[in-house]
Amino acid sequence: MSTEQQFDVVVIGGGPAGYIAAIRAAQLGMSAACIESAAYADPKGDVRLGGTCLNVGCIPSKALLQSSELYDQAGHAFHMHGITTDKVAMDVGAMQLRKQNIVSQLTTGIRGLFKKNKVTLLAGHGSFAQRQGDLWALDVSRDETVSRVLAKHVVVATGSSARHLPDIEVDNQFICDNVGALDFDAVPARLGVIGSGVIGLELGSVWRRLGAQVTVLEAMPDFLAACDPAIAKEAWKSLVQKQGLGVKLGAHISSVQVVANKSGKGKAASSIVRIEYEHADEHQVLECDRLIVSVGRVPNTIGLNAGAVGLAMNDRGFVEVDDHCRTNLENVWAVGDVVRGPMLAHKGMEEGVMVAECIAGQAGHVNYQAIPWIIYTHPEIAWVGQTEQQLKAAGTPYKAGQIPFLANGRALGQGDPQGFVRMYAHAETDAILGVHIIGNNASELIAEAVVAMELGASSEDLARICHGHPTLSEVMHEAALACDKRPLHF
Ligand code: FAD
Ligand code: NAI
Repeated sequence: MSTEQQFDVVVIGGGPAGYIAAIRAAQLGMSAACIESAAYADPKGDVRLGGTCLNVGCIPSKALLQSSELYDQAGHAFHMHGITTDKVAMDVGAMQLRKQNIVSQLTTGIRGLFKKNKVTLLAGHGSFAQRQGDLWALDVSRDETVSRVLAKHVVVATGSSARHLPDIEVDNQFICDNVGALDFDAVPARLGVIGSGVIGLELGSVWRRLGAQVTVLEAMPDFLAACDPAIAKEAWKSLVQKQGLGVKLGAHISSVQVVANKSGKGKAASSIVRIEYEHADEHQVLECDRLIVSVGRVPNTIGLNAGAVGLAMNDRGFVEVDDHCRTNLENVWAVGDVVRGPMLAHKGMEEGVMVAECIAGQAGHVNYQAIPWIIYTHPEIAWVGQTEQQLKAAGTPYKAGQIPFLANGRALGQGDPQGFVRMYAHAETDAILGVHIIGNNASELIAEAVVAMELGASSEDLARICHGHPTLSEVMHEAALACDKRPLHF
C-alpha cells in the first residue's frame, strides 16, 4: 500500500497565483497542498511564501516608492503648504529595514492563511515524476531528500524570473536585476537602467528621488509603447522633462563591463559599470555606479521535468493553456506568470481562483478584458481596456472624454493636480471600452473603471452615478460626461 501523501490539489509554486489557488481549493472542500522551493528563505532557512510579488516584486518596490516619494515631497512639496523643514535626510538602512519588515509581515501572513484554510505547505523543489493511474506523482526535493506526493489535480504556478541579456552577468552588486535593485544599501550617485518598462520606471524613480542621476537606455523608439499615446506623452513630459529621469530611446547596448573606478577616492566604490551603446548613430559610453537590467521576465519551467511528462510549452517557454488555464495534460493546470497574458499578480490570483473553482466543478472564469495595469511612478499611471491605437487598429467607432485633474478641487487641495482621465466609449452602444489615467492616486481610481467595465457599463451609466465631493473620483465622473460632450466642471 502506498504511504505517499495524497491530495485533491497540489500547487507547485507559492506566489500569488499559487497560494491563492491552494487557498481557494481548500475553501471549496478539497485537500490542498502547495510546494514552494527555498528560493525565498528567511534567515532561519524557512521557506517564504508569496513568490516574486511579496519577496522581490510588488510589495518591496511599493514600500521603497512610498519612502522615496515622502522624501521627495519633504524636499520639494512641503513648502507649498507653508511647511519648512531643516535639511531633509534619508537613512537608506532604515528605509530598507521598513521594507523588509513589511515583506516579513506579509509572507508570515500567508503561512497563517495556509494554517487557517488547512493548506499543507511542502517545502522543496517540485517536479513531475509520473502519471500513476488517475493520479499524478510529484517529487519534492530539498537538501538531497526527495519525497513523493500524489495529486488528483496539479496546478503549475512556478512564476517568472528576470530576463538577463547575453554576455551581461548579473552579480546583484554592480549589475542588478530586480532582486539586487531593491536592496541597494546606499543611493548610487549615477544609476544606469537598461529598459524603460515598468521596473525601469518604478525603480529608476525610487533612486532618482533619493538623489541618483538616472540614465535609462531603452531599445525601442517609443516611450511606454503599451500605454495609450496621450498617457505616454504626458508621462514623458512629467517623468523625463520635469523630473529629469534621463531616458534615451532607440539605444542599442554593445557591451557592459564592471571596471576599476580609476577616479574613486576615499569611500568611493572600487568598481563602476561601463556601458557602451549606439544611440542616434553615435557610439556612446555611460559610466555608472550601479546598473539595473530590467528587460522583461521569463517563465520558470526549468527543473519541472515537464518534457518527460509531455507538458506542452510555446516557443517562448510559457506553459500552453486554454482560456480556463487547462494544459494539454489531464488534470494539470497552469496559472500566473508561467502562462500567457500580462505578468501581474492580480491576473495570476484571478486565475488561481478560476482554476480551483473549475476543479470543483464550478464555472470559474477570468475576464481578461478587464485586468487593470498600474505603474507606480509619480504621477501614477493606470489603465483598463483598450488604448486609442488599439481601437483605431480594430476599426472600432469610439468617442473620447478627457478631463484634467487641474479642474478638480480635491487635486488642487492636495497640491498635486497634474495629469488627466481619458475615457473611450463605443460611438454607437456607449459601452466603456477603455479608461486611462495619469495622476495622483490613479492606482485607486482605476478600480471604478474596472467595476464599470466588468459590469458592462456605458459612459452614461457612470455619468449618472453620484460621486462624492470633493474627491478625485469626480474626474472620472466628468470624463464620462465628457464622452457625451457635457462635462459640468470643464
Ligand atoms: P511568482 O510570484 O514568481 O511565484 C512563483 C513561486 O514559485 C516562487 O515563489 C518560486 O520560488 C516558486 N517555484 C518556482 N519553481 C518551483 C518549483 N519547481 N518548485 C517549487 N516552487 C517553485 N505585479 C503587479 O500586479 N503589481 C505590481 O506592482 C508589481 N510589481 C512588481 C515589481 C517588480 C520589481 C517585479 C519583479 C514584479 C512585479 N509585479 C507586479 C509582477 C508580479 O510580481 C508577478 O506577476 C507575480 O508575482 C506572479 O505571480 P506567480 O504566482 O505567477 O509567480
Ligand atoms: P517590461 O516588459 O515592462 O519592460 C522591458 C523594457 O525593456 C521594454 O521597454 C523593452 O523594450 C526594453 N528592452 C528589452 N530588451 C532591451 C535591450 N536589450 N536594451 C534596451 N531595452 C530593452 O519589463 P520589466 O520592466 O523588466 O518588468 C517585467 C514585468 O514585471 C512587467 O512587464 C510587469 O508585468 C511586471 N511588473 C509590474 C509592475 C506593476 O504592475 N506596477 C511593476 C514592475 C514589474
